Amino acid sequence: MLETLTQQPPDALLALIKLYADDPRADKIDLGVGVYRTGQGDTPVFGAIKAAEQRLLETQDSKAYLGPEGDMGFVRGLKPYVFGRDDPTLNNLLASGRIEGMQAPGGTGGVRLALGLARRAMVSRVWLGTPSWPNHAQILADLDLEARTFAHATAAGTVDMDALRGAIEAALPGDAIVLHGCCHNPTGIDYSPAQWDEVAERLAAKRLLPVLDLAYQGLGQGMDEDAGGVRRVLARVPEALVAYSCDKNFGLYRDRVGAFYVMAAEASELGVIMSTAYALARAAWSMPPDHGAAAVRIVLEDEGLTRQWQDELDTMRARMRQVRERLAAAGRVGTVDLAPVGAQNGLFSVLPLTTEQVLKLRSQHGIYMAASGRINVAGLTMGNIDKFIAALAAVIA
Ligand code: LMR
Repeated sequence: MLETLTQQPPDALLALIKLYADDPRADKIDLGVGVYRTGQGDTPVFGAIKAAEQRLLETQDSKAYLGPEGDMGFVRGLKPYVFGRDDPTLNNLLASGRIEGMQAPGGTGGVRLALGLARRAMVSRVWLGTPSWPNHAQILADLDLEARTFAHATAAGTVDMDALRGAIEAALPGDAIVLHGCCHNPTGIDYSPAQWDEVAERLAAKRLLPVLDLAYQGLGQGMDEDAGGVRRVLARVPEALVAYSCDKNFGLYRDRVGAFYVMAAEASELGVIMSTAYALARAAWSMPPDHGAAAVRIVLEDEGLTRQWQDELDTMRARMRQVRERLAAAGRVGTVDLAPVGAQNGLFSVLPLTTEQVLKLRSQHGIYMAASGRINVAGLTMGNIDKFIAALAAVIA
């Protein structure tokens, strides 16, 4: 029976981790998978998380099961960061009692749960701006959901609002649409607040189900600013699903820390909706891993640790901004204009390179990036950025 299976290619992004590790060149540069790096090229554990883990080690007296919803202290602790404190201009989202959540294994677990739940609710078609994080399409395919795509960005490096308007126009009520909350992966091109308002109005008018993927909150403009789009959408549509990741903004990548939230049309519907989410989670992973979520909960419950975490996040954001400014200042390198990179957000930007140029950067210069031309700007430092720009000029020439 198993001989009927066919060889699958390794995940292209994750394969880069090994390719880079196996390269013996001392001056190699990793712009591949999305992890933050310091100016020294390291991905350290946050100080606030280290302190929380220490506390966890000292105080945790059991590792007995918690249930499919995971650590609800963690889920509740994140809520004000995602949905904001009560704001009448945004419908007092939290006070509405229409929002509930649960823990999920990483942002991917949250996306999987959101789309699985949408499918249970009879959604069969999902709209997705492309390029997108490749796993979005893989999850849709695995769930047998029909993916309909539209262009996320224009060649000039701005949001393609016309394509989005066209997609919403063509969608049918009851379709879902996946939107990146901030720090669009892979382009780094986000909607402005005014564009989010328009998107929200159109989604509400067409009665589409938004699936909002918020995987990089705090890595773009700031914690509140990065959740602004999600909040604007939730303030206007009757119902929505949110997938959340703490893997980047708490640096917990391999611990797989995420959440799934639902905003229901009526508070009274939450019980049934969450029971469905619990059943889906139970059948998929039973219960989420505890450790990282418990550490985040401890950070969020402690004012001092919360401040320390936010300071660490501010430092990360400032460093990425500095890299983006340096790239933007380089302007045009051959056919590639680096200027738009300065206005983009988060870890990623896409450079208009051919696969051949990407492979040349890899083989001739030890510079690793996704075949799409996506770079992780956090892989650049003040020490290697000149080499990167020179290598870019060499392969483009
Ligand atoms: C990325 O896009 O590099 C990250 O989100 C890691 C992943 O799981 O793909």
